[in-house]
Amino acid sequence: MIKPHGAETLTPLYVADDAQRAELTKEAETLPSVLVSSGAAASAVMLGSGYFTPLTGYMNIAEATSVAAEMKLPNGLFWPVPVMNLVPDEQLTDAVKSADRVALRDPNVKGHPPIAVMEVSAIETFRWKQKNFIIEKTFGTDDMEHPGVPAFENVGYNLLSGPIQVLNYSYFRTDFPETFRTAVEIREDIAARGWHKIVAFQTRNPMHRAHEELCKIAQREVNADGILIHMLLGKLQPGDIPAAVRDASIRAMVKHYFPENTVSITGYGFDMLYAGPREALLHAVFRQNCGCTHFIVGRDHAGAGDYYGPFDAQAIFDEIPADALEIEIFRGDFTVWCRKCEEIVMMRDCPHGGDDYFSISGTKQREILAAGDPLPPEIARPEVAEILMAYYQREVS
Ligand code: ADX
Repeated sequence: MIKPHGAETLTPLYVADDAQRAELTKEAETLPSVLVSSGAAASAVMLGSGYFTPLTGYMNIAEATSVAAEMKLPNGLFWPVPVMNLVPDEQLTDAVKSADRVALRDPNVKGHPPIAVMEVSAIETFRWKQKNFIIEKTFGTDDMEHPGVPAFENVGYNLLSGPIQVLNYSYFRTDFPETFRTAVEIREDIAARGWHKIVAFQTRNPMHRAHEELCKIAQREVNADGILIHMLLGKLQPGDIPAAVRDASIRAMVKHYFPENTVSITGYGFDMLYAGPREALLHAVFRQNCGCTHFIVGRDHAGAGDYYGPFDAQAIFDEIPADALEIEIFRGDFTVWCRKCEEIVMMRDCPHGGDDYFSISGTKQREILAAGDPLPPEIARPEVAEILMAYYQREVS
């Protein structure tokens, strides 16, 4: 199987031994603690589940700056997005300041139980300019209207760095028992299925017909044994469709429109960054970590609004060193409904153009649903449309 990023084997930071974990969880209750941001808690889940192999914890200022500026850690390891535990002043109590180890409390679970124990290597405070540099490099903007920037901007200037041991997977295991999987579990599943070539598909949306076709074209062109549909289960911007609804609609689509045993439907516990190109690179890192050989990057991957060009998230793969990643990128062109072909096509494979095309996007899908109109078959399969329309009737109108 393809090797994890920068390591021979995965390095999940979850304490797998039940007795050890119970003991550490008990001890965590007695340690000075910090209520972390949602983003930092999600990073703990990613570190715990092996997706962020070979990282051992949160980065310090020098590491985060190096990653932002050069997409590598000071030790040379390729890494595209800083993994930071930023905390506001009120969390930096005297007890925390003098502690060697602290408990990190989860803001997303009732009662804020500890999600991890951290060995404090350093507590540093960013100057505005230093932190802003990191934001601009990661997102390409510091605009607070960008849906991902506030999650970095509004969480304080103090950086707690150091290795962690992870105690649980936050709300992901309990809320999505059928879908949340660690990188370790996905590697095991791939091995059990006997798949050698696997195409991974990232999504934060219910899958419309362009998504479906993108997966099928990629599988055909790389001659893959299987497709890993790997959805984000964490926080989204307002208006995005919640994970549970998306999960149900993806399962309906796969059941009716993919051959049996060719798709594995899974999810991971991370908040959406909307960081476009940099997030596409991070997506590739963690799909390599879960054992996939290929990763689909289509148009406006992980984008938001007009912050990135439609193919910036593909172009960035040409800017990184050739040996940075082992996983290969499948670059998808605009995928649309062609009125002449009467099917979904990738524009580069179709001789038609202009008015023959009906474009398909998650945004268009949401707009139609919000207006209370039926989703046309050019956009969504009827089984998917039914689930989404029921959700909108229930929740939104
Ligand atoms: S993302 O933020 O998770 O990337 P989304 O779930 O919409 O958003 O997209 C999943 C993948 O499908 C991404 O690789 C994206 O580039 C690709 N994609 C979505 N719609 C299209 C389309 N109409 N044509 C080509 N690629 C698309």
